[in-house]
Amino acid sequence: MKLNPPAKRVLSLILINFFFGLGFSNLGIAQKPKIVTIKTDQYIAKVEQNMWGVFFEDINFGADGGIYAELIKNRSFEFTKPLMGWNLQKQKDGEILVVNRKEVNEANPRYIQIKNETNDIELINEGFKGIGVKKGLRYDFSMLYRMPIGGIKLVLVLKDSKNKVIGKTDLPLLQTGSNWQKQFASFIATETDLKSKFSIIFQGKGNIDIDMISLFPSDTWKNRPQGLRADMVQILADMKPGFIRFPGGCIVEGTDLANRYQWKNTIGPIEERKMIMNRWNIEFAHRPAPDYYQTFGLGFFEYFQLAEDIEADALPILNCGMACQFNSGEVVALDELDPYVQDALDLIEFANGDITTKWGKTRAELGHPKPFKLKMLGIGNENWGPQYLERLAIFTKAIKGKYPYIKLINSSGTGPDGDRFELLNNSLRASKADFVDEHYYRPADWFLKNAGRYDSYPRNESKVFVGEYAVHADSKIIGANRNNWQSALAAAALMTGLERNADVVQMASYAPLFAHVDAWQWAPDMIWVDNLNVYGTPDYYVQKLFATNKGTDVVSITADQKNLIGQNGLYASAVIDKSTNELIVKIANTENKVQNIDLSLDGKKKIKSIGIIDELANDNLAQLNSMENPRAIGPKRTNISIKGKKINLFLKPYSFSVIRISFKS
Ligand code: AHR
Repeated sequence: MKLNPPAKRVLSLILINFFFGLGFSNLGIAQKPKIVTIKTDQYIAKVEQNMWGVFFEDINFGADGGIYAELIKNRSFEFTKPLMGWNLQKQKDGEILVVNRKEVNEANPRYIQIKNETNDIELINEGFKGIGVKKGLRYDFSMLYRMPIGGIKLVLVLKDSKNKVIGKTDLPLLQTGSNWQKQFASFIATETDLKSKFSIIFQGKGNIDIDMISLFPSDTWKNRPQGLRADMVQILADMKPGFIRFPGGCIVEGTDLANRYQWKNTIGPIEERKMIMNRWNIEFAHRPAPDYYQTFGLGFFEYFQLAEDIEADALPILNCGMACQFNSGEVVALDELDPYVQDALDLIEFANGDITTKWGKTRAELGHPKPFKLKMLGIGNENWGPQYLERLAIFTKAIKGKYPYIKLINSSGTGPDGDRFELLNNSLRASKADFVDEHYYRPADWFLKNAGRYDSYPRNESKVFVGEYAVHADSKIIGANRNNWQSALAAAALMTGLERNADVVQMASYAPLFAHVDAWQWAPDMIWVDNLNVYGTPDYYVQKLFATNKGTDVVSITADQKNLIGQNGLYASAVIDKSTNELIVKIANTENKVQNIDLSLDGKKKIKSIGIIDELANDNLAQLNSMENPRAIGPKRTNISIKGKKINLFLKPYSFSVIRISFKS
C-alpha cells in the first residue's frame, strides 16, 4: 500500500505509541483536531529583516582560542606572567630574558631575548588547550625578530599529543642589527591532532630577540591571512543572522575602567593592538581562566568585516563611562566623559565616514574604503541606576546631534523586572529611547509564562531589543544550565511571542554565542567548539529556524479567538513572506503528547497542495547535542499534502515545528 505523507506520519505515530504503550489519547488520533485559525489577509505587524541576530562576546574562549584562528597562546609575552603558555627545555640561567620596553612601546612592551651558547634551546607553546591541526593542511608561521650578531638558526616543529613530529621546517634568518624584521615560514601537518604543541628550536651560538610569535591555519574564513576560523564563521553564516552584536557583554564594561573595551586599541597592525586581561579570567571562582586575555586580533575592523561577510547588520556596544557594577562599579566623572563620547562619535565616522574624514580614511587604509553602513549603536551593556541615565543623556545628545539617523540601544539593567528594570524602562520610554535592551536568563517556566509578555506592551513607543536571553534551569547550581531540549523548546515558545509582537520587539539575540568545551566560564551557550570541530545545540537549531523563516508580515494565529500562548501547551506565531508568497507557521508543543490540530486558513488567498514542515522533536527534555552526536536534536524536513484550506497536523510530543506553505499566485 502506498501512503501519502500525512498518512505515513499518522501510521508511524500509531506504531510509536503502541510500542511505548502510550495509547490512543496520547496520540491525538481519537481527539478531534483543535482548530487553529490563521487570518492570512490581515497583516498585523511588519517583521524587521534584521530581527533575529546573534550576540558575540569574547567569553568561553569565543574570540582568542576560538573564532580568532591564532594558535599560539601569549604570542607577545604580555600575559601577567610573561611566559605563561610557554615551556622551555634545556635552559640554563641567563639564556632567556623577558625584556620590557614600555617607555618606547606602550602597546607591545615585552619581547624575549635568547642567548645561546652550545646546546639547542627549545621553546614550546601549548596553544589554547592544545593546538588543533589537520592532516595535509598548510600552517603559516610568522615572527618579529632582531639578531644583532648572526649565528642562530631556528627550526619550527609541530608535535602531536604523543610527542611525534607531525610538521617541521627551518626558518631562515638574517643578521639585522638593531632593526626588527618579520619572518615567515609554512609547513604542512602530516597528521590530524586535537591537542598538539608547537616548538621553536634555537640552534647555534648567538643572541636573538623575538616577539609576536604566530601560527595560523591556512584554511581561515575567506582564506584571509591571520583571519578567523572558517567552521565557526560558517555555522553563523548558515543561521543568516540579521545582526551581530559585539563585543559583548560584560567585556564592554570591564572589571574596572582600565579593563574596559576600547575599540581604538583594536584596529591596525596586530603588534600595535594593546592587549588586556579578559575580565572572564577572574570572574568565576568555579571556572578560573588565568590564561584568558584579549589580544584583539579580532578587533573592530574584523567585527565589521565579519558582519558584512555574513550579511548581518553590525551592532557595536560601547562603554558608557561605567565599569561592571558587579565588580568595581567605577564611573567616569560626568565632566570627564568627553573622551568616551568622542569614541562613540569617532566610531560612527570610522564605520560610515567619507574617506576624506579622519576615521573614514583610517578605515580605507585598513582596506575598506566603502562605508560599513552602521545603523545602530549600543551605549552601555548591563549598566543601571541614575548614574547610567545621567551618562546616557550626554551620549544621546552628542550622537543624535551629529548623527540623528543612528538608532541607540539603551540598557535596562540586568533583568526583565524589579526596581532596576522599572526605573530604567520607565525613564527610557519617557525620554523616547529608540531601543530598550532587555536581558533575561531565567528558568524554562518563566519563558513559558512570558510568551505573552509583549502582547500588552505599548505599540508606538520605544522598541524592545531582547539583547541577551537563554533558559537557565537553575542559576544557583553551577553546571546545571545545559543547552538541553527543554531549554530550547521553552525559548522557541517565548520566541513565538516575540514574533507575534514584531512591531514592539524588533530585534532579539540568544546569549552567549560560543563556548570552548575545555575553556568555558558560562553555560548554556548556543554553539560549542573544540580545537577542530563545532556543533550547534538544540538552541542553535531553534534560532536558525526562526532566522531562516522570518517572513515579512505577522498575521494572527488563534485558537478559540485567543493567541496561542500555552493553551494545551501550544505556543504559535505566523508570518507571511511577501517575497516568496508563502505562509510560515511556527508551533511549539510543550506537552508530552501528540497534538492533533487543524490549521484553518481564513482569507482570500489559495494555497498549493504541498507544504513542508521542519520539525525539532524529542521525547526526552534532557536530550543534548554533543561533539559525538551533534544532531541528536536537529531539524527533520518532511512534505505535507494539503486539501482545501485546512491543514491537518499531528504535532509530536515536545516538538517545535515550522510549516511553510506556498500561496497560489
Ligand atoms: O552572556 C553572558 C553575560 O551575561 C554577558 O556578558 C552579560 O551582559 C550578561 O550578564
